[in-house]
Amino acid sequence: MYFLRLMLWLTLVALVKSNDWCYTDCNHTPELWVHLEGSHCGEDHQSPIDIVTSIVTTDPNLNNFTFVNFSSRQTIKSITYNGHSVQCDIEENEAEVWGGGLSGQYSVKQFHFHWGTETLPGSEHTFNDHRYPMEMHIVTAKTDVPESEILDKEDGLAVLGFFINATEDINMSEPWLMLTSYLANITDVNSKVELNHNISIGDLIGQVDFSKFYRYMGSLTTPDCNQAVVWTLFHEPIQVHKGLLQRFPKETKLSNNYRPVQPLNGRHITASPATPLPPGHLWCYDDQCDFPPSLWSELPHSHCSGENQSPIDIDTQSVLEDKYLSSFKFTHFDNKRAIKSITNKGHTVECILEHDLVEVSGGGLEHVYSTLQFHFHWGTESTNSVGSEHTVDSKRYPMELHIVNKRKDLTLDKAVQTPHGLAVLGFFIEPPQSTKSAYNSVPAETAAHTSSPASKMDAWKTLTLYLSAIRNISSEVEFTDEISIDDLLGNVNRESYFRYSGSLTTPMCNEAVVWTVFKESVTVDHHLMFRTVVLVGGGWGGIAQGPCFAVAMCYVVEGRVQWGCLELGWVWRLHCVDMSSSAF
Ligand SMILES: *[C@@H]1O[C@H](CO)[C@@H](O)[C@H](O)[C@H]1NC(C)=O
Ligand SMILES: *[C@@H]1O[C@H](CO)[C@@H](O)[C@H](O)[C@H]1NC(C)=O
Ligand SMILES: *[C@@H]1O[C@H](CO)[C@@H](O)[C@H](O)[C@H]1NC(C)=O
Ligand SMILES: *[C@@H]1O[C@H](CO)[C@@H](O)[C@H](O)[C@H]1NC(C)=O
Ligand SMILES: *[C@@H]1O[C@H](CO)[C@@H](O)[C@H](O)[C@H]1NC(C)=O
Ligand SMILES: *[C@@H]1O[C@H](CO)[C@@H](O)[C@H](O)[C@H]1NC(C)=O
Ligand SMILES: *[C@@H]1O[C@H](CO)[C@@H](O)[C@H](O)[C@H]1NC(C)=O
Ligand SMILES: [Zn+2]
Ligand SMILES: [Zn+2]
Repeated sequence: MYFLRLMLWLTLVALVKSNDWCYTDCNHTPELWVHLEGSHCGEDHQSPIDIVTSIVTTDPNLNNFTFVNFSSRQTIKSITYNGHSVQCDIEENEAEVWGGGLSGQYSVKQFHFHWGTETLPGSEHTFNDHRYPMEMHIVTAKTDVPESEILDKEDGLAVLGFFINATEDINMSEPWLMLTSYLANITDVNSKVELNHNISIGDLIGQVDFSKFYRYMGSLTTPDCNQAVVWTLFHEPIQVHKGLLQRFPKETKLSNNYRPVQPLNGRHITASPATPLPPGHLWCYDDQCDFPPSLWSELPHSHCSGENQSPIDIDTQSVLEDKYLSSFKFTHFDNKRAIKSITNKGHTVECILEHDLVEVSGGGLEHVYSTLQFHFHWGTESTNSVGSEHTVDSKRYPMELHIVNKRKDLTLDKAVQTPHGLAVLGFFIEPPQSTKSAYNSVPAETAAHTSSPASKMDAWKTLTLYLSAIRNISSEVEFTDEISIDDLLGNVNRESYFRYSGSLTTPMCNEAVVWTVFKESVTVDHHLMFRTVVLVGGGWGGIAQGPCFAVAMCYVVEGRVQWGCLELGWVWRLHCVDMSSSAF
C-alpha cells in the first residue's frame, strides 16, 4: 500500500514537473526555467552553446572513440513521444562508449531529437551561428557511478550530439525511413511502441567521421538543466532527406523543441586533432598571421573598426578636468591570496584572480566592478624597447599593466556587450631612472610630483619567476606565493588619472570599456621587465596544428636570458603568434 502510494506520488510528481515547462505556449518557457523548483537552469555552465570555431583549440587528448554494439540491431528497445521530444530507449547495458577523451566507460541509455518546424531549423547547438535542421542526442551515463550520484558529477553523463542536415537526395536513407514511420504511431503523449529490431544506432548515424568532434563541459538542455554533462558535438552532420525530417513536427504537432544557446562564461571548447579548424580566424600583433592589426576589423563579430577604439594617445593639452572623478575604492587589493593562477595566453601573460573577491568602485565609476584578471603589454627583447599600449603626448612607456574589471551585476557575456560593462585600470611601468617630463605638463594636474615612488621589487621578482613555468602557450600554473595587487602597484599615486570611454585592445575590440589610465607609472627595475624574443624560421605552413617554432617568451634577469628561447614547442594553431606589441 505504502509502496503503491509512493509510486503514485512519484508518477504525479513526474507529470506535474514535465507539464510545468515547455518550449513555447506555456508558463515556463526556456527563459523562465530558472524559476522551476530545483532548477539549475540559471547556473553558469549551461547547454546548448554556439560552437564558435575561432575560439576552439585543438586538444591532442581527444583520441578516437570506441563504440560497443552501435551496429547491433538488438539494442533499440522502443520509441516514445514524451511531449518534449521523440525518444528511443536502449536495452540496459548493451551499448557502450569510451575513449574520445572521456574519463571512463559510459553506457548508452537513450537517444532523442530536437527540431524546428517543417520549414525552420531547430538544432540546439549552433555552429558559428548556423542552426542545423535537427539535432540527435545519444545520452550515456558513466558506468562506475551509482545512478543516484550521476547528476552530481560534472561528467556523470556524456551526451553525443549529432547535427542533422536536410538533403534533397532522392535516395532516402532506409533506417530513417523506418524510424520515422513509427512517428504516426506515437502521437499521444507518453505513447510507446516497441521497435522491430530493424535498425541499429550506427545505421542512423551513417557516414559521420567519428574522429572529428568538439568537446566542452555543460548541462542537460531540459529542466532541471543539471551541470553533469561532458558534451561531444560531431563536426560532420548526419545527412537525411528533408521529407523525413519534416515528419517530426508534422506527426507530433510539436515544433521548435530546442533551448536557445547559453553563454560560455569562460568555458573552453576544444576539438579533436582531426577536426579542421578553419583558417582565417588567427589574429596577431605583427604580419605573421592571417589577421594582423590592420585586418582585425574583418574578423567575424569584430568591432575593431568602431569609432571609440582603444588604445589612444592621451594629448594632455586637450584633457579636461572633471571634478566627478573622485578617489577609487579598491577592495581586497591588499589580499595576498587573490591571485589564483598565471597563464600564457599567447598574446599576453595574465594573472587570474579568485572569483568574486577583488572589487573596484568609486573613481567616477557608476557601478561596482569585480576584478577578473590583470595582464601586461610590453615591447621586444631589445633593452630600450617600449611597448605600452597607451601613449601620453606620444610618449610610449616600456610596459603597461591592465587590471580588467567587469560590472558585478552582469555576466561577462553581457558586460562585453554593454557600454561601460568593463572597467580597465591601466598603469604604465618603467624603470626608476627614466624621466617623466611628459607628465609634468598636464594642466589638470595640480600637485606636480618630483620623483617616482618605488614599488615593492620583491613582488615583481616573485611574479616574474613564474614566467619560466608558463613557457608553453596556453599553459597555466597555480599561483602559490603571497603577493597582492597592492604589492605590485607599490605606492604609485592612484588619485591622478585620465578617463575616457573606449574598447578592448584585442579582438573583438568590443566598445564596452571605461578606461582609467593612471598618470604616474609603477616603477619596476629594468632587469624585471618582460621581454619578447621572436624566433626566425617559424613554421606557418597552413597546418592545422603541430610542432612549429613557437614565438618564445623570454625574460631577462640580470642581463641574462633565464631560459632557452630556441625551443621547438607544441603549439596550438590559434595561438601560434608573435607576442610583440610594438606594431601598435
Ligand atoms: C552487445 O549486444 C549483445 C546482444 O545484442 C550482448 O549480448 C552483448 O553483451 C553486448 N555487448 C556488450 C559489450 O555490452
Ligand atoms: C547540408 O545539405 C545541403 C544540401 O541540402 C548542402 O548544400 C550542405 O553542404 C550540407 N552541409 C553539410 C555541412 O553537410
Ligand atoms: C540510389 O541508390 C542506389 C543503390 O544504393 C544506387 O544504385 C543509385 O545510383 C542511387 N541513386 C542516386 C541518384 O544517388
Ligand atoms: C502503427 O499504426 C498503424 C495504423 O494505425 C498500424 O497498422 C501499425 O501496425 C502500427 N505499427 C506499430 C509498430 O504499432
Ligand atoms: C522489420 O523486421 C521485421 C521482422 O523482424 C519485419 O517483419 C518487418 O517487415 C521489418 N520492417 C521493415 C520496415 O523493414
Ligand atoms: C581515428 O579514426 C580515424 C577515422 O576513423 C582514422 O583515420 C584514424 O586512423 C584513427 N586514429 C587512430 C589513432 O586510431
Ligand atoms: C612544454 O611543452 C612540451 C611539449 O609538450 C613539454 O615537454 C614541456 O614539459 C612543456 N613545458 C612546460 C614548462 O610546461
Ligand atoms: Zn537533447
Ligand atoms: Zn590589455
